[in-house]
Amino acid sequence: MEFKQRHLLGIQHLDVSDILTVLDTAESLSEISTREVKKVPTLRGKTIVNLFFEPSTRTRSSFELAAKRLSADIINFSQQTSSVVKGESLKDTVLNFEAMNPDALVIRHSCSGAPHFVSTFCRSHVINAGDGSHEHPTQALLDAFTIRQAKKSFRDLRVVIVGDILHSRVARSNVFLLSKLGAQITLVGPPSLLPEEFKNFGATISHSLDESLAGADVIMMLRIQTERQKANFFPSIREYRNLYCLTEKRFQLANKDAIIMHPGPINRGVEISSEMADSVKSVILKQVENGIAIRMAILYLLLGGRERETAD
Ligand code: CP
Repeated sequence: MEFKQRHLLGIQHLDVSDILTVLDTAESLSEISTREVKKVPTLRGKTIVNLFFEPSTRTRSSFELAAKRLSADIINFSQQTSSVVKGESLKDTVLNFEAMNPDALVIRHSCSGAPHFVSTFCRSHVINAGDGSHEHPTQALLDAFTIRQAKKSFRDLRVVIVGDILHSRVARSNVFLLSKLGAQITLVGPPSLLPEEFKNFGATISHSLDESLAGADVIMMLRIQTERQKANFFPSIREYRNLYCLTEKRFQLANKDAIIMHPGPINRGVEISSEMADSVKSVILKQVENGIAIRMAILYLLLGGRERETAD
């Protein structure tokens, strides 16, 4: 198994072998989180900086837990309590952390391309934890890991991704990843949140959730990203809910063994009913659990856990 990347900036430029290496490595590392003592010495002596310029519940804490389970040291930066509020730039912030000699920088930023920019001048490995509406590679990898657990194979799997596609880095990374693995993807949302250009990514486009659910194996619901919307993209939440909320009645249109996914945070009663979010068909919290194994795999593959174990 070889991971041929120096950084993890996105899914678009990964090949199938890189993707499968991450999924297989995560599978073998996931066992560590089930032990009484959830820790191995693999990344002892390595330092990771969690640089979050945007809020996060899942991604930040699972990178932290992943690092700790591999015995790396990790520090957390959040924009609100940093000198960014005094005007310090992204470049200067990163250069100051680089001066402390870390091994990896995990970056979330509201600007698309921020981790790519950072990777042009820093020595550490850079991991994209979500950049604007561009990509969220570790989310797509943990989604693929969760789908593989439930469905075994991606070949011709019918995946329906529903919601604010225009602003969703999760949708983009998932379209890149799942299409590389052979799934058939349908993107669903109102025309204002699902431009025709998305056809160029190799997905089918639909504005009708009811029509798209027929034969679906995986239903991935997304929230409306009001923080990225610079205009009103639909008349009202009520109208959006009527057309795009995943309800028990709508779920009956999908395949019997379909699974329900959501990257979180969920807005109950808007894009998904509480009944569906909490149903036995939902793997939403499984996705969160799997996020730790995927992030352990990425840290392990980038920071040379294999060489280090051999050297020990
Ligand atoms: N899925 C996801 O990125 O969640 P957070 O914003 O809480 O990290």
